[in-house]
Amino acid sequence: MNDLVVKKDKNLSPLFKWAGGKRWFMQRYSTAFNPFANLRMVEPFAGGLAFSVTLQPKHVLANDINPHLINFYNQVKEKKFFLPTDLILSKKYYYAIRAEFNDLITLNQIQGLRPAQLFWMLNRLGFNGLCRFNRDGLYNTPFGYYKKIFLQFEWSKYEEIFQSWTFTHNHFEEIKLTNNDFLFCDPPYDGAFPFYSKELFDFTQHQKLVSWIKKQGNPVLIMNHPTPRILELYADEGLEISFLMAPRTLSANMGSRGPTQELIASYNFSWKDLIKRI
Ligand SMILES: C[S@@+](CC[C@H](N)C(=O)[O-])C[C@H]1O[C@@H](n2cnc3c(N)ncnc32)[C@H](O)[C@@H]1O
Repeated sequence: MNDLVVKKDKNLSPLFKWAGGKRWFMQRYSTAFNPFANLRMVEPFAGGLAFSVTLQPKHVLANDINPHLINFYNQVKEKKFFLPTDLILSKKYYYAIRAEFNDLITLNQIQGLRPAQLFWMLNRLGFNGLCRFNRDGLYNTPFGYYKKIFLQFEWSKYEEIFQSWTFTHNHFEEIKLTNNDFLFCDPPYDGAFPFYSKELFDFTQHQKLVSWIKKQGNPVLIMNHPTPRILELYADEGLEISFLMAPRTLSANMGSRGPTQELIASYNFSWKDLIKRI
């Protein structure tokens, strides 16, 4: 098929197109994390895993509330994942696999190879990295109308790095941390439409996230949208705040696709000092 392109990447890239994905950030700042190289990297909001896949640390705890995402990563880790040979770039195919995926959700058969294949193909063929469920928990992202889609073919490289990584499907507050952890927290943006699951990540969740990280003694980096209430919350709780410009592709305001300001906050270390050295 001409429209399915096998991608040969020297550096690994995220396996998903993911709304709010931080590939752009890691392309700029990956070397900033060298001082933490010996720590376990914890991503409570793993999504497309841009942070860990770029750094490729030995030990990672990748957590996400989305069970389909974690099932997919575990299938890759267990070396069971492969792409179905009937995959084609067509609207009809997309809606057929979406219906099959939703049937499996209704039957609660969401673990294993077939749900992982369907979820991954839906992400590749669907609209703009959007992972959207309706109130009944059914996947309702529309078709993406791409001329080409890229397929990450070198699964063995991901299988290899995933061997020493752990993937969990929990609410972030249930994650068990150790003293040897660095936390990269990339929650849904404050005020953004709750694309990722039927549960809303509202301002109370952002407040809980700050309380949760403050209970631990670990170095933490949080990225977010600099809304007035988030700025106030982080400042009141003693987080160090800085800003950078982000290329936003899927934003809280769907009309705006230009660069936007992103907030980067650190706790138990200084991000501002760290980036002076790179
Ligand atoms: C901004 S995305 C993370 C993007 C990721 N850093 C990347 O580079 O692709 C936020 C993620 O948080 C997850 N999420 C939402 N609520 C959560 C919760 N309460 N606990 C854990 N994960 C949650 C979503 O499923 C979504 O994948």
